[in-house]
Parts: sequence; structure tokens; C-alpha cells
Amino acid sequence: MSTEDISGTVLGTDPAAVREKAVVRVSGLRKEYGDTAALDGVSLEIGAGEAVAVMGPSGCGKSTLLNMIAGLDRPSAGSLRVHGEDLGGFNETRLAIFRRRRIGMIFQFFNLIDDLSAIDNIALAAQLTGTPARQARRRALELLDELGIADRRNVYPAALSGGERQRVAVARALMNRPALLLADEPTGALDSQAGEQVMDLLIDLNQLGQTLLLVTHDQRLATRCASRLVMMADGRITGERTLDRSV
Ligand SMILES: Nc1ncnc2c1ncn2[C@@H]1O[C@H](COP(=O)(O)OP(=O)(O)OP(=O)(O)O)[C@@H](O)[C@H]1O
Ligand SMILES: [Mg+2]
Repeated sequence: MSTEDISGTVLGTDPAAVREKAVVRVSGLRKEYGDTAALDGVSLEIGAGEAVAVMGPSGCGKSTLLNMIAGLDRPSAGSLRVHGEDLGGFNETRLAIFRRRRIGMIFQFFNLIDDLSAIDNIALAAQLTGTPARQARRRALELLDELGIADRRNVYPAALSGGERQRVAVARALMNRPALLLADEPTGALDSQAGEQVMDLLIDLNQLGQTLLLVTHDQRLATRCASRLVMMADGRITGERTLDRSV
């Protein structure tokens, strides 16, 4: 893959990316699947360091919105700037490179690779961006340590608890120091204690400056982790309020 020739832009040497304080700038975003408008004109801005939670009924377009911002799927219309880059102008290769370098993503069901150990799942994220294996493993181990699961580094996902799996997934998402961490129902498959731990982790990360966009059905997760709550229904944003996380 010819990553070298475009990495100058994707790595953030693009002055526009540095100037722009909004990490996400979405305007008039539409996504149609056949006759269904999964997104029907969504506009949203997320500033650097913000933690935004999106809530709304099942099928209202929350995951679709996250997937567009992650560059996993393409909008039918509207504009989409992430970290100062206009994703609409990217071909598939650039989108994939952008996603690997700039976006960290965690999912309800972890999406770990079953036949890789915890440390190899994490290190792979950096190796895919060209980081040498030894360096990738060193950073993976640091992250495992920071997340309190270094002793589980050689364990395969099947033998990890749900909470441990999600922490491995968070470490993987952080591997490349992403501009934006996206989380789609990150506690949805966890018991309450493991859910609390992941919640605390997300809060800590945001307090360290990590920009966070979170989709959840869990009011408590939203109000504890986010500084702003965005409500969606039927593919649109229907309301928004600022949260006071101290309560
Ligand atoms: N790949 C797809 N192909 C066809 N339709 C899709 C696809 N992805 C999503 N949809 C449709 O788009 C709409 C929005 O789906 P989306 O997954 O974004 O909802 P959601 O808010 O994340 O729901 P949930 O809370 O259940 O996860 C739904 O009507 C869904 O059926
Ligand atoms: Mg969803």
C-alpha cells in the first residue's frame, strides 16, 4: 500500500488540521440505505477535549453517525470534517489510513481478534500503521499496565472477562493516540461492576484531554462521562444539553 506518499497529510502536518479546533464538524449529513434515511440531515460539532454522549431510541441512527465519523461508511450527502480533514474527498485507501491513525473505536462486543493474545490485539493497531513490532509491543505493554491488566497480556480473548476484554479494546483504540475516541455502547455487554470500571476509564481519558464521542442507552453512563448530551430520533438531532459531571 502506498501509505508513504500521503502520510504527510494524514499525520496532521496539514496546517488546516492544526488550525481547526473542532475535532468533528458534521453538517447536513444524510445516509440512505435503500428507502430508509438512517441519517436525515445531522449537523454536529465537537470541540477538542469534549466528551459528547448521543442517546436515542433503537434504530434512530446513532451507530450510523459514529460509523460515518469513523470513516467506516460514507454519507449519501452532507459534509464531514474530522480532525480538520474533509473525509468526503478521501478515497478508500486514504479513509482506511485516516481511520487507523486518527480514530480509536470501541464497540459493545469488543471486536477483538480471537486468535491473538491481549498484547498482540493491541500491538496490531500500531503495526497496521507501520510501527515496528517491538516498538508496538512496548507501547501495548505500557497501555496494558496503565489499564491495570498487564498480567493478562498473554491471555486470549476467550479467557478474558468482559471487563478485561473491553479494557484490551480501549488499549487498542488508544494505541495510535487518536484525535477522537468513538464508543458505541461500550458498557452494553458488561455487568454493572465491569461497566463502572470502563466508565471510570473513559472519564479519566477525557480528563487527560481525550476527545470522546459516546453512544449509549445508559443515562448514567451519559451523565457521568459526557459534558454534553445530544438526543437523536428518526435520523435527526432533536435536542441537546450541557451536563454537569460533578453531580
Ligand atoms: N448496513 C445497513 N443496511 C441497511 N440498513 C441499515 C444499515 N445500517 C443501519 N441501517 C438502518 O438504519 C437505521 C439506523 O440504524 P443504526 O444502527 O444507526 O441505529 P442505532 O440508533 O444505532 O440503533 P441501536 O440503538 O439499536 O444500536 C435503522 O433503520 C437500520 O435498520
Ligand atoms: Mg447502534
